[in-house]
Amino acid sequence: MKTIESIPIDKARIENLARGAKPALPVIRAEKEKLIQRIKELLKARNAVLVSHYYVDEDLQILADETGGCVSDSLEMARFGYAHEAKTVVVGGVRFMGETAKILSPEKRILMPDLGAECSLDLSCKADVFSKFCDAHPDRTAVVYANTSAEVKARADWVVTSSIGVKVVRHLHEKGEKIIWAPDRYLGGYIQKVTGADMLLWPGYCVVHDAFKSEELEALHKKHPEAGILVHPESPMEVIDQADVVGSTTQLIKAVTELPNEVFIVATDRGIFHKMKEAAPNKKFIEAPIGGIGASCLSCAHCPWMAMNGLVNLAHTLETGKNEVHVDPEIGKQAMVSVKRMLDFAEQLKMKATGDANIISPA
Ligand code: 13P
Ligand code: SF4
Repeated sequence: MKTIESIPIDKARIENLARGAKPALPVIRAEKEKLIQRIKELLKARNAVLVSHYYVDEDLQILADETGGCVSDSLEMARFGYAHEAKTVVVGGVRFMGETAKILSPEKRILMPDLGAECSLDLSCKADVFSKFCDAHPDRTAVVYANTSAEVKARADWVVTSSIGVKVVRHLHEKGEKIIWAPDRYLGGYIQKVTGADMLLWPGYCVVHDAFKSEELEALHKKHPEAGILVHPESPMEVIDQADVVGSTTQLIKAVTELPNEVFIVATDRGIFHKMKEAAPNKKFIEAPIGGIGASCLSCAHCPWMAMNGLVNLAHTLETGKNEVHVDPEIGKQAMVSVKRMLDFAEQLKMKATGDANIISPA
């Protein structure tokens, strides 16, 4: 595996930012129903649609479902906001998701409950450093994960999400292209292993998935040998190696209905349990271990930035129009090329395939 170790990743800064992320304000039960009702009215009044990621609080997932929005992975969030007729898209997620929505729909107003919702992968990949690296390797195609800034997307040739990364890279590899992959080292390593492509891997990481531990997972599996192991590919390779299914968030949810197991150990953000329980109400879900005995965790299997999204700041952004996502129009135009390339590719796959384009699998 060719990880680009010369690229500096400011781990201390990233982890400080993760620790400093302020979770959304809690709402007492008596207030909750009123607030939900108010948000529903505001969504209608503002001609707005709510698009939530699987990792946000279940209140925001339920609201998106109940109001004709969507709850999905980052690929489907991008597609849904783009295709929807609403003039305002409210993104319950992290900033790169809001930016992707703005890139695809520059004429729409994109709002977020909190613009400070970062992503450690985005923070791992500064646009100027990335651009210089690409300049130094003009013979390589730059493929970046959606978890990046608009500037990085603008410099890349392709943007991919975890649900389509394998398929895009396999396609490029078959055309004889060599690749620069950024920013997630583990997802990149997994795609490299599965496709055999020539990839230089940016050393970025996700603070949530990086914390899953392989030895502890093995021990937990010994206690629950009947459990299926589901792993998001942002996890370390030794964790991925133990998985029954490696996949995007959507694919992991699908797996709980398709596999016969009654119990699952899940190595991804625990926000996903809401949809897993909805898909398979009689099955049992266990969080994959994030550390050894006595270890303290930075994220405890829940993204500190996804946790910034709540009912209070969602109502506030709808009420005031504050927290609008802006992307420089020139950057947006360039980034649109690489994002649209992914959406068009996904569309072609859908047309060709008998199966689902949202599947990441070694096959
Ligand atoms: P998905 O593309 O699978 O939704 O993942 C996005 C993400 O941020 C995972 O940590
Ligand atoms: Fe980024 Fe990780 Fe949070 Fe996903 S879970 S948004 S990759 S920090």
